[in-house]
Amino acid sequence: MTLSATEIDDRLMLGCWRLHERTPQQITVLLQSALESGIRQFDHADIYGGGESERRFAQSLRTLGCPRESIIIQSKCGIRDGHYDSSAGHILASVDGILDRLGTDYLDTLLLHRPDALMEPAEVAEAFSRLQAAGKVRRFGVSNFRPMQIELLQSALEQPLCVNQVQFGLAHTGPIDAALQANTGFDGGIDRDGSVIDFCRMNGLRVQAWSPLQFGMFAGNFLGHPDFAELNHALNTLAQIYGCSAGAIAIAWILRHPAGMQVLLGSTDPQRLKQLSAAATIRLPREHWYALYRSAGNRLP
Ligand SMILES: NC(=O)c1ccc[n+]([C@@H]2O[C@H](COP(=O)([O-])OP(=O)(O)OC[C@H]3O[C@@H](n4cnc5c(N)ncnc54)[C@H](OP(=O)(O)O)[C@@H]3O)[C@@H](O)[C@H]2O)c1
Repeated sequence: MTLSATEIDDRLMLGCWRLHERTPQQITVLLQSALESGIRQFDHADIYGGGESERRFAQSLRTLGCPRESIIIQSKCGIRDGHYDSSAGHILASVDGILDRLGTDYLDTLLLHRPDALMEPAEVAEAFSRLQAAGKVRRFGVSNFRPMQIELLQSALEQPLCVNQVQFGLAHTGPIDAALQANTGFDGGIDRDGSVIDFCRMNGLRVQAWSPLQFGMFAGNFLGHPDFAELNHALNTLAQIYGCSAGAIAIAWILRHPAGMQVLLGSTDPQRLKQLSAAATIRLPREHWYALYRSAGNRLP
């Protein structure tokens, strides 16, 4: 099944975490490849490369002559050295730093990077309202938040939270395991995330899937990894059927979920990025979707 260009634009984002590992020239080619693949949304954080990813991204956009209004730029703040900080002062100062490094007047979206146990919702609300009134940030969201934490923050905000960015992919299925394996004694039936994906669907927050090809907490990429032999076999078999790369099938698996998630592609390789972008044109039928879920080591009751 083929999807429209608008859907392709909307559902794939380029994750810019690893950009600082590349030269400005390489980043320019990567961004050109992203734009040619229909990717118009870019995810940053103030801590990526200590700010260097944002700086190099801005430099490459200038080289490409890409108009600011033609793309969506998102960034995050709140992680500091050894602690989290959602104080108003830190959020305001972080956004000024982000805008300066990105060479732009505004962010389309600002996310709080991780939940802060010391978060004061009223303080975050004050910061968000000041940023919006100043035209510095258009929309707000969170990352790695559980439903109750979202409700707590939302209760103080003037603006609706519109995004929750969480880790999700074939080697990190926790956010859906508990629902699929409900009412069993299986380990997968343990609810670690509070049905976060269902909660986001019900409350109008877009789920963004980070590290879609990684396993563990930054433990590595599962594509071609010997610990994921069955999964790779299933991916390679479907890749032949659909005429794309195994990575594109793994991304298509995330896109097939009815939450309508956005996927953050983290590759810094222009060719790979193009191959992965083919995922947006593939709609997996149920039997292929569940076969992949099971081949990743999950049990269905
Ligand atoms: N909110 C959060 O807490 C959080 C945490 C982590 C990440 N993120 C966001 O999520 C984005 C994506 O994360 P990620 O970089 O871990 O994503 P990913 O797409 O899962 O992994 C990309 C990494 O895998 C490598 N890779 C190796 N073989 C590959 C293959 N066959 N196909 C594709 N990639 C392959 C890539 O190398 P090459 O570059 O050589 O292709 C790159 O280093 C980040 O950029 C960031 O924006 C958010």
